[in-house]
Amino acid sequence: MNIRTDAITELILKAAHEAREETANIPAAERIPRVNWPVECTVGPGLEGAIASETRVGFVNGARGELSYCGYDIFDLCAYSSFEEVSYLLLYGKLPTVKQLDTYKAKLIKDRPLPHTLRLLMGFPVEEMHPMAALRLGTNLMRHRLTWHDSDAGRPSPDQAIGADEDSIPMETAPKGEQKAIYEFKSTKKTRPPNAPQGTEDAAGLRACIHLIAGLPTIAAAIERIRDHHLPIEPDPELGHAANFLYMMTGTRPTTEEERIMDIALILHADHGMNASTFASMVVASTLSDVYFSIGAGIAALSGPLHGGANEEVLKMLESIGGPENVETWFEKTMRKKKKIMGMGHRVYKTYDPRARILAPLAAHLAKNHPAAAPLFRTATQLETLVVATLGKEKQIFPNVDFYSGIVYKCLGIPPHMFTPVFAVSRVSGWTARVLEYLKKNRIFRPRAIYVGDFGKEYTPIEGRAKKVKQTTT
Ligand SMILES: CC(C)(COP(=O)(O)OP(=O)(O)OC[C@H]1O[C@@H](n2cnc3c(N)ncnc32)[C@H](O)[C@@H]1OP(=O)(O)O)[C@@H](O)C(=O)NCCC(=O)NCCS
Repeated sequence: MNIRTDAITELILKAAHEAREETANIPAAERIPRVNWPVECTVGPGLEGAIASETRVGFVNGARGELSYCGYDIFDLCAYSSFEEVSYLLLYGKLPTVKQLDTYKAKLIKDRPLPHTLRLLMGFPVEEMHPMAALRLGTNLMRHRLTWHDSDAGRPSPDQAIGADEDSIPMETAPKGEQKAIYEFKSTKKTRPPNAPQGTEDAAGLRACIHLIAGLPTIAAAIERIRDHHLPIEPDPELGHAANFLYMMTGTRPTTEEERIMDIALILHADHGMNASTFASMVVASTLSDVYFSIGAGIAALSGPLHGGANEEVLKMLESIGGPENVETWFEKTMRKKKKIMGMGHRVYKTYDPRARILAPLAAHLAKNHPAAAPLFRTATQLETLVVATLGKEKQIFPNVDFYSGIVYKCLGIPPHMFTPVFAVSRVSGWTARVLEYLKKNRIFRPRAIYVGDFGKEYTPIEGRAKKVKQTTT
C-alpha cells in the first residue's frame, strides 16, 4: 500500500464496514448455479425482470446494495486493486499473477497511441460534436486497425479512383458512373493480403477488446484537447492507465492521490449487470457484428440522461440549486412538478448504491481543498438527506453512482461534458468482457413485442384521405 494513498484506502474500508453493518440483516440473494433454458420469469415494462443470459462477469444485489466482479466485492477491489487488474479480471475471469498483469499492462501501453485513428478523427468537426458522438465515431475509426475490410490493405489505391476532385463532393447528385465521383472506384477484385487478419476474428476477439480498453482513453482525452483548441497529448508509457488518462486529458500529471482516486472511479464504473449500454453492446455482438460496432452501440446507449448522462446532469442540478440553504425549497418545487432528481434512484438498487457509498467520502475528501466544489458537496449531502428521508422511505430511492461522481471529477479537473466519456472509458472493460462471454454460446437476441394495433384496415389512396378524415370528424 502506498503511504500517500493510505487515507483513501481507509475511507473505502470504513464505507465497506458501514455498508456491511447496515445490510447484515437483509438475506443474501439466492444462488442459481445454472439456468435451464427456456426459463420462466416475470417481465415488466423496460424488460424489467427479463433474463437475457447467464454470466460470470459480475453480480448486483439490489436489495443489499452489493456489487461484485467475478465474485470479488467492489469494496475490496476499490481498496486493494487497480483498473488494469480489474479489467483483466473481467476479461479473463480470474485475477492475474504478477507476470500476467505485467504482460497485460504492456499490451495496454502498446495499444494506447492511436496516431492513425486520431488523424482520421481530426478530419471531423470534433469541437462541435457532443463528446459521446465523437467517442463513438473514434471507436469506429479504431476499427480500421484490426479489420482487413476497413484497413489500408483493403482500400483501393488512388490510381483506381475514377475521379478525386474533393471540391465536387458537396455537389454530387448522381455519383454512379459520373466523372468526379470521389467515392467511385473501378471495380477490381481485391485479393486478401497474406498477413490480413482472418475473417472477423480480429475484430471480434480478445485482441480487439484490449485494443478498445487501451484506446478509448486516448480518444476521449484527444476529444477534450481538440475541444479546448489543443493538440492531443502523446500517452506516457511510464504512467498507469488512470494517471495516463488524466494526463492526456488535462495536460497535467496527476498527484499520487489524484491518480488513486481516478483509478477507483474507473474500477467502480467497470461493470454493472445487464444495464442498457451493456445490453445494447451484447445485442449488436449477437448478430456476429464485431466488438467495435458493439462498443459503439454501448457508447450510444450510455450517452442518454437516464443512464451515463446522469452524472453531468447532477452537477448542473447542484449548481442550479445555488447552495445548501436553497435545497429544501428546490426539493419541494421539484417534487410538486413531479420531476426526477438526477443521481437518485435505480432500477436494481432498492437501497444505497455501493458505488455512491464509496464516491461520497472521496468527494468529501477532495472537496475539502476545492473551493468551487465544497458548496456543491454540501448541497449534495443536504439533498441526499432530504431524498432519503422522503423518497427513500416511500419509493426506495437512494443516491446512485452518478450522485457524487461529478463532484469527484470536477475536483480532478475533468470538465462536465467529459463525465460520460470517462464513464465509457471504464465501462468498455465490462462491455467487452460480457460480449466475449456471450459470444462463446451466442444466440442472436430476438425478443418480441405484443402487437396491440388494428388489423384489416382498408388502404385509402392519398387523394381520398383528407375527404375521409373530414367525413369521420364531422
Ligand atoms: C435510474 C432510473 C431511470 C430507474 O428508473 P425505473 O426503474 O424505470 O424507475 P421509474 O422511473 O419507474 O420510477 C419509479 C418511481 O420512482 C420515482 N422516481 C424514480 N427515480 C426518481 C428520481 N430520481 N427522483 C424522483 N423520483 C424518482 C418515479 O417518479 C416513480 O414514481 P411513481 O411510481 O410514483 O410514478 C430512475 O430512477 C431515474 O430516472 N433516475 C434519475 C436518473 C439517474 O440518476 N440515472 C442514473 C442511473 S445509474
